[in-house]
Amino acid sequence: MCGIVGYLGRNSAVPIVLAALKKLEYRGYDSSGIAIYNQDELKIYKEAGKIFELESALPKPELTMSNIAIAHTRWATHGEPNKKNAHPHHDKLKNIALVHNGIIENYKQLRDILCDHDDQVEGETDTEILAHVIGYFYNKHHSLEEAVRASLHLVEGTYGIAVFCKDNPKQMIAARKGSPLILGVSKDAYFLTSDVNAILTHTNKVIYLNDNEIAVLNEDNYLISTLDNVPVDPEIATIEWEASSIEKNGFKHFMLKEIFEQTTTVRHAFRGRLYDSMATARLGGLNMVPSDLRKVKRLQLLACGTSYYSCLLGKYLIERMARLHVEVEYASEYRYRNPIIEDDTLVFVVSQSGETADTLAAMKEASAKGARVMGITNGIGSTIARESDGGVYIYAGAEIGVASTKAFTSQVTILFLLGLLFGRMRGISPVQGIEYIKALRKIPAQIEEILKLNDKIREIAAKIKDSTNALYLGRDLHFPVALEGALKLKEISYIHAEGYPAAEMKHGPIALIDENMPVIAIAPKDVLYDKIISNLQEVVARKGRLFTIITEHDEQIEAMSEEVLIVPKTLSELQPILTVIPLQLLAYHVADLRELDVDQPRNLAKSVTVE
Ligand code: M6R
Repeated sequence: MCGIVGYLGRNSAVPIVLAALKKLEYRGYDSSGIAIYNQDELKIYKEAGKIFELESALPKPELTMSNIAIAHTRWATHGEPNKKNAHPHHDKLKNIALVHNGIIENYKQLRDILCDHDDQVEGETDTEILAHVIGYFYNKHHSLEEAVRASLHLVEGTYGIAVFCKDNPKQMIAARKGSPLILGVSKDAYFLTSDVNAILTHTNKVIYLNDNEIAVLNEDNYLISTLDNVPVDPEIATIEWEASSIEKNGFKHFMLKEIFEQTTTVRHAFRGRLYDSMATARLGGLNMVPSDLRKVKRLQLLACGTSYYSCLLGKYLIERMARLHVEVEYASEYRYRNPIIEDDTLVFVVSQSGETADTLAAMKEASAKGARVMGITNGIGSTIARESDGGVYIYAGAEIGVASTKAFTSQVTILFLLGLLFGRMRGISPVQGIEYIKALRKIPAQIEEILKLNDKIREIAAKIKDSTNALYLGRDLHFPVALEGALKLKEISYIHAEGYPAAEMKHGPIALIDENMPVIAIAPKDVLYDKIISNLQEVVARKGRLFTIITEHDEQIEAMSEEVLIVPKTLSELQPILTVIPLQLLAYHVADLRELDVDQPRNLAKSVTVE
């Protein structure tokens, strides 16, 4: 949800900042801009559209001129996605440039109080007002730091900001409240970024700014303090990821690469976490001894989007394996619902990025009520990782495609491990525990088998790419898989799709079925096999086009289906990790055949850091 980058050092800032900005393009890509200092002037360049538009519009001499730059890639909240509303914004006198990620909720009041009538507020954005407010205080205090502090004291809302002033092009100021902001430190430069991935080619030493902190960067030093000017002694973290993990490595799109990575990423999720001799899982990051875990009587799983669907699956898994009550809730609803948390409730927030605003707010709500809150995240050093009481990294590596794929299967793997851990305390025998562990170890090789269906899936995609609707059906553990399959299709191919429990279809959606409606059903041979066959008969009887994900030796469903995709059989608790992969590939190929922007679908952003 908007990406910001800053550079202050001895090299030419523009190429560095543009390269970093491209790595943040997944956060928003409707417009972009850059501010630099050149020959005593503050220069701002902006363009609507993707970053290459900005790059092509930049006059060549500017590329080498400045040693300071701030840049932004936008996902519009206030005001249309156009050049005028793109960041950076400047103050009235064009002394100060500002980039911002977040929402200034009281920007209208600030404008009415502080901006002169002759202030040339050009756009419709909250950020532009903040630039004018900082300018107002700068003219009073003649100190950018003071001006930023004074302004932020008045702001209601969320922000990650980077600011500099043409009067001192050797200083940059950054501040954070509710939107991620990271300071990268190298021998000869400072970097600001919304996501560490953008600066890893330059440094892996980073400081995660906390809420209500300001960083003042000068050429040779930096100081971090609270908004109230109390000095902070920051911890410098070392990031272990390699910069190469964010290349496409020969794949046409990041999404396709990430789908194919699942043989490895699922293994990374369970590696070192299987405790064979006790037939259970070991999740040390929870920071809970067995006697604490034993006291837990109820779990709450909170998340958004794909992470929410992995939680739904987690409910099926954990309730089945551990007979432990699990509630799953959209983080955005939970935060305002005044949820009930009892002493024996353990809360998990699940988020690929670890930065989703609604999920963070749900985490804060649960913490404020005294709950112990755990994070399950991919975002190393993300806000969820830092602010939760403990948790589990999924270790899936950077996920760049806006449509989440490998994070889903890794999250489900972790939730399965939780099912095993709690289950072994509450009734799973050692023999059963070992059976689960053995089956999990086989999953990566089984994923490898499924990926061989890629060409066939593209052929099926060609058959449904011109549809306007699609229905995804599944029962039991495969109902959340149906929801996830439908979400994948709609977000990247713009085909309306719904996921439904197969048996619920007859209570409404069956009215939609005709010869034009593709129905994608997940129907492995399991306890509800006979039941789902009846549901699928209802589709066929109404001439629906049936495409099925089945397991081996299933002539019955094969005979009913226009096309089948056969996945290897595993334990029913692990089967969803396998059945979801053909659905990810199907959505991918439909979108690609429709010649859509698979990695950066319209209106979406990878990490939704606004409410
Ligand atoms: O980073 P998070 O897991 O918290 O993100 C949650 C959702 O925004 C995300 O899953 C979104 O729904 C994806 N685009 C789905 O593919």
